[in-house]
Amino acid sequence: MSILTPTPDAIREAARVIREGGLVVMPTETVYGLACHALNEKAVQRVYEIKGRPSDNPLIVHIADASWLPKVAREVSDLAKKLAEKYWPGPLTMVLPKQSSVPDLTTGGLDTVAVRVPSHPVARRLIEEAGVPVAAPSANLFMALSPTSAQAVDPEISLEVPIILDGGPCEVGLESTVIDLTDNPPRILRPGGVTRADLQAMVGMPLGHQPPSAIRKSPGQYERHYAPRAVVTIVDALEANQAGLTFDQPSGPTQVRMPRDPKSYATALYGAMRRLDIMGVAEICVVAPPDSEEWEAVWDRLKKASAKLL
Ligand code: TXA
Ligand code: MG
Repeated sequence: MSILTPTPDAIREAARVIREGGLVVMPTETVYGLACHALNEKAVQRVYEIKGRPSDNPLIVHIADASWLPKVAREVSDLAKKLAEKYWPGPLTMVLPKQSSVPDLTTGGLDTVAVRVPSHPVARRLIEEAGVPVAAPSANLFMALSPTSAQAVDPEISLEVPIILDGGPCEVGLESTVIDLTDNPPRILRPGGVTRADLQAMVGMPLGHQPPSAIRKSPGQYERHYAPRAVVTIVDALEANQAGLTFDQPSGPTQVRMPRDPKSYATALYGAMRRLDIMGVAEICVVAPPDSEEWEAVWDRLKKASAKLL
């Protein structure tokens, strides 16, 4: 494995690996992804194996721009077009009826496909150059923290790929918002970089939430997920001797001061938890952020990180 600066040559080489059915790690603006040819069943199978992810948990298919939608979706509604125009490239994933060319394995056996156009220039160049839709789950083991830098990709993943393209730290830092447009009204299956308020304004009606009955429809809906090795506990305030994330002046090296605005907090969250994990703390106490809707994506990840293993 090599971590490569994403020169045109390196991107071309990574694109060749993908076209030929291999795997690479690519940067996106949300988190790093373990990328492969989305229409190549063998390649997709390896992604599930390496991540240790159950194969009924669908992957997101990444395309270079909205003109590729008919390659993977059999129906593209006016609403989907409108959302694509507004939010692509960017951290919005839309669930649409699947095109038959997309293997069932890629979509976890569902008749729908989740699609997005990442805005990270390296990801876009890579997909364009590969010339095929690219399936990419976050480049972490099932249920672990997603990497937000090339250096944060765990060895279990990095040792399995020939190339990691280093696109720098991820700007958004949390996985994309997933909106299911096959439901009426559309539902947000996973909150993320594009907020509920923004989407509601575009769609013109209140959007549904993650359905509890569809726990297995998305891996992001497992109770414990996005979790560091340490136990995560949400608290009102940090004691001087507790390790964790705070909004105030840290009392020592195992306390991380977090930004007060939700977007910057999201960008910093996984890196902060990873840092404390590397320091070997047993418990990460996280001071509860405000309870308002702009914090929905952060709260979602904090709840999932702090859920007890069943
Ligand atoms: O930001 C992201 O979306 C990152 C980067 C790499 O693009 N990718 C990512 O993929 O987070 P992953 O595999 O870790 O999460 C996939 C999510 C699931 O939680 C689920 O909500 C949704 O995508 N998903 C995929 N296909 C779906 C489908 N057909 N129906 C419903 N949800 C689907
Ligand atoms: Mg993931």
